[in-house]
Amino acid sequence: MSVILAIESSCDETSVAICNNGKITANVIANQTIHENYGGVIPELASRVHQQNIVPVIQQALNDAKVGKSDLNAIAFTRGPGLLGSLLVGVSFAKSFAMALDLPLIAVNHMQAHILAHFIDDPKPKFPFLCLTVSGGHTQIVLVRDYFDMEIVGETLDDAAGEAFDKTAKILKLPYPGGPLIDKYAKQGNPLAFKFPEPQIKNLDYSFSGLKTSILYFIRAREKDNSDFITEHLNDICASVQHSIVGILLNKLKKAASHYGIKEIAIAGGVSANSGLRLALQEMAEKQHWNVFVPAFQYCTDNAGMIAIAGYHKYQQGDFVGQDVAPLSRMEF
Ligand code: KG4
Ligand code: ZN
Repeated sequence: MSVILAIESSCDETSVAICNNGKITANVIANQTIHENYGGVIPELASRVHQQNIVPVIQQALNDAKVGKSDLNAIAFTRGPGLLGSLLVGVSFAKSFAMALDLPLIAVNHMQAHILAHFIDDPKPKFPFLCLTVSGGHTQIVLVRDYFDMEIVGETLDDAAGEAFDKTAKILKLPYPGGPLIDKYAKQGNPLAFKFPEPQIKNLDYSFSGLKTSILYFIRAREKDNSDFITEHLNDICASVQHSIVGILLNKLKKAASHYGIKEIAIAGGVSANSGLRLALQEMAEKQHWNVFVPAFQYCTDNAGMIAIAGYHKYQQGDFVGQDVAPLSRMEF
């Protein structure tokens, strides 16, 4: 029997979840809208908003799960990777809370947690499986042998897939984060309207910085002839950019699946909410006879539910950390 409270504060979402015997009974997420007009997350602002949010979000999660502080058995928290100032708020709160309540502390790797979100609801993937983890800061193909036995077999050499979406959105003068907006406009557009070059990167690695530059030059060139080019063609631009990013992501995933002879395939992270990616993955799965796993929307983007389920599996293994634990902006598996 275990009731675990988990805290996520690695970027711009303050989130707290409760895991009661392996079931997520609360998952409260406070989004920060303050970054919208800056084209990206401003670390100092994010950290301050986490400080304002953390107590009410904890209270809301306890209320939602109908548990009291005395029912808790452990406190899990995101140790990294992420923005140091943001992580510090969650880590410090977790440590103080655990000390006050005399509870064990569980440190969770945010990228592993994105993958472990697949163990919240059924159907769950079977080990070993491959997971394409695509977020605002990371793009990785991970070979998952067990809950905490994971190996990165391919990753981006520069920008993450989420960054490619967000930076394109910035070029298109859309607010941050632009990924969900590009997804929305792409639904009305023609994915083959414009073509962007696919990077030629070896192995299972990715690169998205070239794509961003070619989009920027393409837009600049078209705007010379027509200053309303973006507004007039927004849907087609978004559909074409999304089509390119999804194609790049899935081509390497296909290569990884055939290299490892694995047909159990998952996607995770904020970009796994993208409807174009989900659709193309389903189509590829039918052709390749894959068994695919896509997380529920609420567990794609940053959330503490995934930290809580990771914490639950660490709790089972007795994997605790001491009060001397510190956040890590970069964190290995
Ligand atoms: O996993 P996440 O919430 O935070 C990080 O750990 O980075 O991912 C955020 C990223 C952002 O780049 C956001 O634009 C992207 O996920 N994103 C999407 C969609 N929803 C979120 N990108 C494309 N389509 C979406 N529907
Ligand atoms: Zn994330």
